[in-house]
Amino acid sequence: EGVITIDPGYKNTGACESAITFLDGEKGILRYRGYSIDEVAENADFLEVAYLLIFGELPTKEQNKKFHDDIKAESYVDEDVKKIIEAFPKSAHPMGIISSLTSALTAFNPSSVNVDSEEDMYKSVVRLLGKMPVLVAWTYRKKAGLPLDYGDNSLGYTENILKMMFKKPNGEYKQNQVLVDALDKLLTLHADHEQNCSTSTVRIVGSSHAGLFASISAGISALWGPLHGGANQAVLEMLEAIQVDGGDTKKYMAKAKDKNDPFRLMGFGHRVYKNFDPRARIIKKAADDVLSQLGIEDPILSIAEGLEKEALADQYFVDRKLYPNVDFYSGIIYRAMGIPTDMFTVMFAIGRLPGWIAQWREMRMKKEPIGRPRQIYTGATERKFVPEDER
Ligand code: CMC
Repeated sequence: EGVITIDPGYKNTGACESAITFLDGEKGILRYRGYSIDEVAENADFLEVAYLLIFGELPTKEQNKKFHDDIKAESYVDEDVKKIIEAFPKSAHPMGIISSLTSALTAFNPSSVNVDSEEDMYKSVVRLLGKMPVLVAWTYRKKAGLPLDYGDNSLGYTENILKMMFKKPNGEYKQNQVLVDALDKLLTLHADHEQNCSTSTVRIVGSSHAGLFASISAGISALWGPLHGGANQAVLEMLEAIQVDGGDTKKYMAKAKDKNDPFRLMGFGHRVYKNFDPRARIIKKAADDVLSQLGIEDPILSIAEGLEKEALADQYFVDRKLYPNVDFYSGIIYRAMGIPTDMFTVMFAIGRLPGWIAQWREMRMKKEPIGRPRQIYTGATERKFVPEDER
């Protein structure tokens, strides 16, 4: 029963101890389980990173194979899920569909809520990693008017995601290694970022012992917002608006600095980084590489580069230590892959899945208490009830 201090947005409040991800925002350092993000992005594939984050160590060849085999064994969903997808209007945002479908997985797999043993927990984990890409592919395909079916388990996890999304109704699909590698890198770079809004949500929902799928569904909803994962969609829409406006970046810079205008420069600023977001650097380079390897000249990239240059030289941004974040350049790569803008945040969700799972698992294994913040009450003092006819 100590003194309650209020910290809106939890700017200086730690919620847990965690051994998963290290972040130094002043220096711009990010490490997964001790490994620098640069080394991880360069050398590891997404599934290895998932294993590392969730279980704490890089997998051996055998562990990696077993993990992937167990995930592959779960790479289908109940056919009745298609009925839920059918019921959504065509205009539904994919993030709303995905969060609903993830929550619905609990109904189709009720035993997944029991995670009293490590073995039960493992089953839920591989089940989610197996089923989520199917849900994502189906969400995309439904909107694109393509038939809903399953992937190809002879492929790697990331390759399979692309094939599941883009294969033609006759099964035809041309694999492009540049795109597979780029997506794998993007997923890896999004895999965890300690106690961000969606991860904190997953931990707090999970702390009531709601199941993994319900906790992740809540995390997906949190990620949807434009101040968080939804920023990748918002960035591209902003760049397109600037393009339509004749490339007038100065106008948008002025809007971003105007305190009477709610507009913010999307893809800029971060709660923790007061320096370059190391992920943004890697993604910028990947965007350059992918576009040049595919021979695409996207005028949106030049607009983004121009904005970045202006912002980094502008006193307003310098004073507030606002740098490009992970969402600034990622959309340019998704766009080159043919992924529609409203699916960008869904791709972020696939990437963040290992982090959410790892954080949920850590929280459950450490038997953390239910998350339940306090408040300082500022409402009316006690007063007498007024009957309706006297109000
Ligand atoms: N454009 C213009 N001004 C900004 C921006 C921006 N993008 N970001 C922060 N500021 C200003 C803000 O107005 C405030 O100014 P002042 O001190 O004069 O009131 C100051 O910088 C500090 O900002 P804050 O809102 O107090 O910082 P926060 O830690 O609460 O918010 C943020 C962090 C990421 C929500 C915010 O920077 C933002 O809205 N950025 C744009 C959205 C975005 O790109 N989000 C993705 C975040 S990174 C990855 C992820 O989570 O998905």
